[in-house]
Amino acid sequence: MVILGIETSCDETSAAVVKDAQQVLSQVIASSLKQHAAYGGVIPEIASRAHLGSITYVVDQAMQEAHVGPGQIDAVAVTQGPGLIGSLLVGISFAKALGRGWAKPVIGVNHVKAHLYAAFIEEPPIYPFVGLVVSGGHTSLYKVKKFGSEDVIGSTRDDAAGEAFDKVAKILGLGYPGGPIIEKLAQSGRKDAFRFRCDCSGLDFSFSGIKTAVLYKAQELKKLYGPLSQETTADLCASFQDAVVGDLVAKAMKAVASCGARALVVGGGVAYNNYLRGRLSQAVRPGSVKLCVAPKPYCLDNAAMVASFAARLPRIQRTCGSVRLDPLLG
Ligand code: KG4
Ligand code: ZN
Repeated sequence: MVILGIETSCDETSAAVVKDAQQVLSQVIASSLKQHAAYGGVIPEIASRAHLGSITYVVDQAMQEAHVGPGQIDAVAVTQGPGLIGSLLVGISFAKALGRGWAKPVIGVNHVKAHLYAAFIEEPPIYPFVGLVVSGGHTSLYKVKKFGSEDVIGSTRDDAAGEAFDKVAKILGLGYPGGPIIEKLAQSGRKDAFRFRCDCSGLDFSFSGIKTAVLYKAQELKKLYGPLSQETTADLCASFQDAVVGDLVAKAMKAVASCGARALVVGGGVAYNNYLRGRLSQAVRPGSVKLCVAPKPYCLDNAAMVASFAARLPRIQRTCGSVRLDPLLG
C-alpha cells in the first residue's frame, strides 16, 4: 500500500510518499516560517498564500524522489483538521483534485492523531501505550488500548506547550518560533536560577501562568538592572524550559503508571527539543516501559505522519475514504 500524504494545516507545505505505513520513500517540506517571523506568530493569510505557491512543486518533488507515478499510488491522504482553515483548504482541494484525476480514494487525517502515531513510522506500535502530543496547538495525553481507541486523559486548559515557548520568546524579544531559540539559549543558562512552576493538578496542563511569571520576572529585572543581559536571558530560558519539561515528563510518567502502559509515545513539534528527549530517557527505566519518541524528521509538521497514519486505518476507510469539509467548518 503506497500512500501520498499531504499536510498544510499551518505554515508547512509538505508531501510524502509512504509504503506500508513504515517505509518513507520521500518527504518534502516547504515552510513559510520566515515570512511570519516579523509578526511573532503565524499569519493565516500569509500561510494560505504560501501553500498555494508551494503545493504543486512539493507534491511533484515528493513523487519524483520516491520514483513513483500516479499508477503506483493507492490513495491520497490529507490533513483535514485541526488547523488554519485557509491552509487546510489548499491541501484538501489539491488532494481532492488529485484523487479525482487519478481515480484514487482521498483519506482525511486528523493532524493531532498523526502526531501521536509519528513515533511508529520507524518501528512497530506497542499497545497499550500512553501518548503525549506536544505541539504549538496541542498538549494532550492519550491512553491508547489499540489503534482507533485513543482516549484523551489529560490536556491543556489554556496554552499549548509550544505556544508557551513561542510566547515566552516573544516576551524576551527573541523571535519566532520560540521553541528552538529558547532551547539553544537554555544550553548556556542555569535551570535553577529562577523558580518557575506549572500549576495544574491531575493529568491536565496549564502553561499560561508560567508565561505570565516569566513576563513579571523580566519586568522586575529590567526595572532593577536595565535591559536583560544575555546571561540573564539564558537563565530565564533554562529555568522556564526546565519547569515546562519537568511538568510534561512528570504527568506523562504519572499517566503511564496509572494506565499500566507498555510504552510512552511522544510526538509533536516540542518533541524536537533535546532537553525534553533527554529528560524522558532518564525518567523511563529501560525494561519496564518502552520510550518511543517520534524521530526528528517527523516531530514538526510533516506529511509522512499523515500518510503513515492513513495506512493504519481500517481497509474500508482507506479504500472508500473521501474528505468531508464539514468538520472543518463546524
Ligand atoms: O507540531 P508543530 O510543528 O505544529 C503544530 O502542530 O502546532 O509544532 C510547532 C511548535 C511551535 O510552538 C514551536 O515553538 C515548537 O513546536 N518547537 C519547539 C522546538 N521546535 C519546535 N519547542 C521546544 N523546543 C524545540 N526545539
Ligand atoms: Zn502539528
